[in-house]
Amino acid sequence: MKKTLILQAPAKINVGLWVKSKRPDGYHDLASIMQTISLADIITINESTEHGIRITCDHPLVPTDSTNLVHRAATLFLDQMSIVPALTIHIEKKIPVAAGLAGGSTDAAAVLTGLARLYDKSLSPADLMKMGSLIGSDVPFVIHGGLAVAEGRGEKLSFHEPPRPPLVVVIAIPSGVGVSTKWAYENYHPGNNEAKERTFNMLLDAYRARNLDVLRKLVFNDLESVTLHRYPEVLRIKERLAATEEGVVLMSGSGPSVFGLFADKRSAMKAVRTLDGLPVDVFIEHTAKKHF
Ligand code: C5P
Repeated sequence: MKKTLILQAPAKINVGLWVKSKRPDGYHDLASIMQTISLADIITINESTEHGIRITCDHPLVPTDSTNLVHRAATLFLDQMSIVPALTIHIEKKIPVAAGLAGGSTDAAAVLTGLARLYDKSLSPADLMKMGSLIGSDVPFVIHGGLAVAEGRGEKLSFHEPPRPPLVVVIAIPSGVGVSTKWAYENYHPGNNEAKERTFNMLLDAYRARNLDVLRKLVFNDLESVTLHRYPEVLRIKERLAATEEGVVLMSGSGPSVFGLFADKRSAMKAVRTLDGLPVDVFIEHTAKKHF
């Protein structure tokens, strides 16, 4: 019998992103607090009678050819395990595309995890994360999920317990805007790392303690200077969401998504109402735990 697997592929936010320096390999050394959230794509993997890997997706802007990270992940896995490809994979997109929420990376991560189960391969999370790092910088984190400080290119991870109880996360994205991560990094010029190191070291404690008043004063994302300059609508969303002064508001990754962290649903909804009249897509989610 041909097997089917249905998997959740959750998004992440960066509760702080410090871009330290450009590396000789073209990537940047960074430090970031990565947090899984409840917003998730749904990935369905079917064993097929036909040779090859066929991808389908309900979102018109997502390529379904070999450039799709899901295709790359499946090809890599089957290659390394010496399995002849015969799969169809459907991606049901709930996470906005090119939004700074690791949507493509998390789909690829779900496929690596799913194929290990489908073919009964006893790979550890560390094995899968190593494979994932060949697909993209965010993939190792989204394979594991939860809360982590990411360093290096994003693959050096130290995991922590996420805040308890979970925080409410409002995601707000200007309609029709997508940002290339590569473009954002290329246009960022690192500098002044001394002050940032001190601030970054205090971020994790404030976040885990759910101390939103302290976190609001400390939190920063270096790529905001690039994306907010090019897309002033992202700045407008940030200003509105922050107006109630009850949440912690920041751009995620290279944007354009902006998130707000709130202690409860009431203060989250109060902030959401400030977005009335703006061309914006809004999701009300919460911080989530690790997968393993
Ligand atoms: O690793 P990934 O393919 O997701 O990264 C997309 C782009 O983002 C890279 O091509 C690179 O330009 C930039 N990037 C970077 N430093 C990182 C992660 C990503 O410069 N640590």
